[in-house]
Amino acid sequence: MRAVPRPSDPAVRAAGTAPEQRWDPSRYAEHGRFVSDLAGPLVELLAPLADDDILDLGCGDGVLTAALAARCRSIVGADASPAQVAAARARGVDARVCDGQALPFESEFDAIVTNAALHWMTRPDAAIDGIWRALRPGGRIAGEMGGSGNVARIAGALADALERRGIDPKSRFPWYFPTPQAYRRRLTARGFEVRTMTLVERPTTLPGDIVGWLETFAAPFIDAVADDARPALLAEVRDALEPALYRPGTGWVADYVRLRFLAVKPAAGGC
Ligand code: BEZ
Repeated sequence: MRAVPRPSDPAVRAAGTAPEQRWDPSRYAEHGRFVSDLAGPLVELLAPLADDDILDLGCGDGVLTAALAARCRSIVGADASPAQVAAARARGVDARVCDGQALPFESEFDAIVTNAALHWMTRPDAAIDGIWRALRPGGRIAGEMGGSGNVARIAGALADALERRGIDPKSRFPWYFPTPQAYRRRLTARGFEVRTMTLVERPTTLPGDIVGWLETFAAPFIDAVADDARPALLAEVRDALEPALYRPGTGWVADYVRLRFLAVKPAAGGC
């Protein structure tokens, strides 16, 4: 399998050209619950304080947001998916539909936590700018996202399958998986002091079949073909991945690589 052809660190497309991801809260609950279940290291990095006002950027269905609510003064969830925001509100979270690349907040939060959301934002500087504006001076962001090499085998198999159908996979690639160096540079350029930035391989056992993961998280690739061609595409990708990612007795293990970081907006303000 060849490496997926993806845009290099400017993985920064022209605004509005990233293909759309669809979110289905019930599918997410079945195939994506591990995302919030595995947030322990991120919460440790955030170290929420009792008097913190926190923004959960990319709150999804609000499971992590609700868990953090008891550990801070207030928490707001923001997500681009109206369906996920509705699911978060159903669990009592103050959740708002927001474009993470055009956040509407001004100096409202002591901390921002963001889990598995920033890699969907293919205009990273726009996201970082909104984060900067949303934080009070002295505020911090604790983030976890896909880093360089994340789901490389999965993305490679999807790319191969699309290419066999004459579709340019680069045009369907919806993710931004930066190196630690590249993301540090972006944060620093905006004025943040980066306290930690680590890239961690985290092979992740999935709760079900890889097809469930693909249907939950890889819609931009799958939607490149007509409805009736999708089962064959999924079966082909599954077959290609089975030797590398299926472990008898364990199940499917996705090749996740996390970029975890903590950065602070200096109290003096900056630019
Ligand atoms: C991630 O959390 O790294 C991820 C989730 C869905 C698609 C790609 C990456």
